[in-house]
Amino acid sequence: MSGAVALVVAAGRGHRFGGELPKQYRLLAGKPLLRHCLERFLAHPAIDAVRVVTNPLDAALYEKATAGLALLAPVAGGDTRQQSVRNGLESLAADAPAHVLIHDAARPFVTAPMIDRVIVALGRSAGAVAALPVVDTMKRAAASGARIEATTSREGLWRAQTPQGFRFADILAAHRAAAATDLTDDAAVAEAAGLAVELVEGTEENFKVTSEADLQRAERVLAGAWEYRNASGYDVHRFAPGDFITLCGIRLPHDKSLEGHSDADVGLHALTDAILGAIGAGDIGQHFPPSDPQWRGADSARFLAHAGELVARRGGRIVNLDVTVICERPKVGPHREAMRRRIAEILRLEQDRISIKATTTEGLGFTGRGEGIAAQATATVALPAGLTAGPS
Ligand code: CTP
Ligand code: MG
Repeated sequence: MSGAVALVVAAGRGHRFGGELPKQYRLLAGKPLLRHCLERFLAHPAIDAVRVVTNPLDAALYEKATAGLALLAPVAGGDTRQQSVRNGLESLAADAPAHVLIHDAARPFVTAPMIDRVIVALGRSAGAVAALPVVDTMKRAAASGARIEATTSREGLWRAQTPQGFRFADILAAHRAAAATDLTDDAAVAEAAGLAVELVEGTEENFKVTSEADLQRAERVLAGAWEYRNASGYDVHRFAPGDFITLCGIRLPHDKSLEGHSDADVGLHALTDAILGAIGAGDIGQHFPPSDPQWRGADSARFLAHAGELVARRGGRIVNLDVTVICERPKVGPHREAMRRRIAEILRLEQDRISIKATTTEGLGFTGRGEGIAAQATATVALPAGLTAGPS
């Protein structure tokens, strides 16, 4: 394997968190904590595969928490975090990637730009760790209690987070050499082996859920921080001889058909582009190139479902969709409700978030002359603010 693999450690027992359920399987915004970071790694274009290190006691929890995600098979962890990472690394050794990004399952808010920063730094350093400079004044307390013994300079002090990325061969060798120690992060293992580890910028939101209060904080981060994105899509298909068209997911008898590489569903194409636009994910042709024979005659529902999935993978949701079909014939009105129902079904969305409108062009232009159908659409999408985009 080349490229980069994300190794997510999730074998801990969460003693400090407490409770029956290990913290990585507790729900955050209705989704297991573990799943939040997995979706973020899976959605990142520079991450080729994701593997989770689990505790075999959690097998059923793991299956449920990761249902439908394209992950490598999980591997069993060990008694300490260091052993869990080691087991994960050993499991990748036979088909070793160039780089590995090690991440705590208990950090749900890893961001794409942070992953980028780690990977970019790996071009020049053996290791790179997301971290934040310490801003508070540092006090050392007496071992026995909370009385200050000394004030230490914060100069040069950073708080290490994950992801921690390394050249795979280097970190595997470092872990093998450090087998007798119990270090709390992989940077420490790398340092012990004399590897140069770079600090790259983490974020405050990338905190580790350690206690119940942290989980509440994570809920507040998600609840308060949505950003709304809007984009449009436009498409045209030409009429050709035939006896039906597919429009907004519905097959309609007609005295012509629509020409196109796929099923030529101009409505779903405009809509797919609007959704892709809202998440900055290019356009339909980029995801499903017309030059690729596998999309010949394809059901455009697949394209739309894919765009919806990309939104979900970013932790986002579709707020509303609006399509305007532009043609003289066929009449869209009688099919409007069926179209809304079908789009709602494809995207697993409430029907009242979907609007279908139609207009003629009063006989003017190519649509007026009955040469083809045009459609335009807008999509509004809610994404977790600052977590998937922007400088963080
Ligand atoms: N971890 C692991 N294997 C272990 C211990 C920890 O894979 N034997 C993982 C945890 O699941 C977590 C990450 O390492 O995602 C960071 O560890 P920590 O926050 O300390 O989690 P726990 O060890 O589960 O919590 P605690 O220390 O409170 O028991
Ligand atoms: Mg621990």
